[in-house]
Amino acid sequence: SAAEKGGYDWFMRKEIYEQPRAVADTLLGRYDENSRLVLDEIRISENELRSIDKIVIIACGTAFYAGMVAKYAIEHWTRIPCEVELASEFRYRDPIVGPTTLVVAISQSGETADTLMAIRHAQEQKARVLAVCNTNGSTIPREADAVIYTHAGPEIGVASTKGFLTQLVACYLLGLYLAQVRGTKFGDEIAATMAELQAMPAAITEVLEAIEPVLDLAGEFADAPSVLFLGRHVGYPVALEGALKLKELAYIHAEGFAAGELKHGPIALLEEALPVFAVVPPKGRDQLHAKVLSNLQEVRARGARTIVLAEHDDTDVVPYADVLIRLPRVSTLLQPLVATVPLQVFACELATRKGHDVDQPRNLAKSVTVE
Ligand code: AGP
Repeated sequence: SAAEKGGYDWFMRKEIYEQPRAVADTLLGRYDENSRLVLDEIRISENELRSIDKIVIIACGTAFYAGMVAKYAIEHWTRIPCEVELASEFRYRDPIVGPTTLVVAISQSGETADTLMAIRHAQEQKARVLAVCNTNGSTIPREADAVIYTHAGPEIGVASTKGFLTQLVACYLLGLYLAQVRGTKFGDEIAATMAELQAMPAAITEVLEAIEPVLDLAGEFADAPSVLFLGRHVGYPVALEGALKLKELAYIHAEGFAAGELKHGPIALLEEALPVFAVVPPKGRDQLHAKVLSNLQEVRARGARTIVLAEHDDTDVVPYADVLIRLPRVSTLLQPLVATVPLQVFACELATRKGHDVDQPRNLAKSVTVE
């Protein structure tokens, strides 16, 4: 009913708008007044955490994209080698895991069969398994050695939204906690990132308050046969997530690419009027920002239409953008928390305009309990 949906047309839209609160709830109680992380729920001793020499993240679909983002953050903060693998591939290739491997299984529902089977395989090899999960008491956290709950509240829409953002936050917390335990980052660096994380609910609210142009865009592109999404670094999994949302909900062909891969093949797809979304990283000390702009130039030169997501005061992007979607200023690693939101809204709105059932897309189930 409309009441259950809090006045929104879809659970998905309600859940998109719940994201500022959901992210705040993931953070709640997980740090002390000195911004030191307090993750008592990780029932793996600090000694054991110090002996870990490899992290393997396993997940499916949107949770897998959260894992891709997590790899960038965890490796940067902890210097522990971190792999991300689709749960459905993991156990069938004789993966190298053992007692000093930390396997992180990410699952909103906690019931995904592919992920559960991968966990069991890892445990047979004596790896420690930590679940990042939203559903209290579900199978995956019950079987794992430890769990970080995301506390997003029930996610009803089949397309994951607040599930994804809170998985990101939980993974950031895990990465910072490991850095704290292992001493790879200094306390003030961790505190600075924690302060930035605490500002994220307000940043996400800012994105939602300025969402009008994205709604108009969905009207404009309702008949597009295909949409591409480009990103680099943590913007790459954001691009993959934007494409997945569009496939799931609008049933149109969509693909996410690492922008640097464009010239290695996908550039052949570019043609007049093809919508191409691009996530532009903040201007930093590295060359990432300039690289994405040059990728955008390649896209523009072939007549495709660029929809550019960039920081609000990034004037360099203006010549490369047919449409600009402005994002609040955040550091590169945290940018997925704000950059994903317009893509969620775009897919939700486009599917609505096409008359599709956004909460129950065809052929999909909320949790996939068969392998
Ligand atoms: C996301 O929109 C999808 N419906 C799907 O990819 C989902 O993320 C995947 O099936 C994993 O689900 P889980 O997080 O419940 O394990």
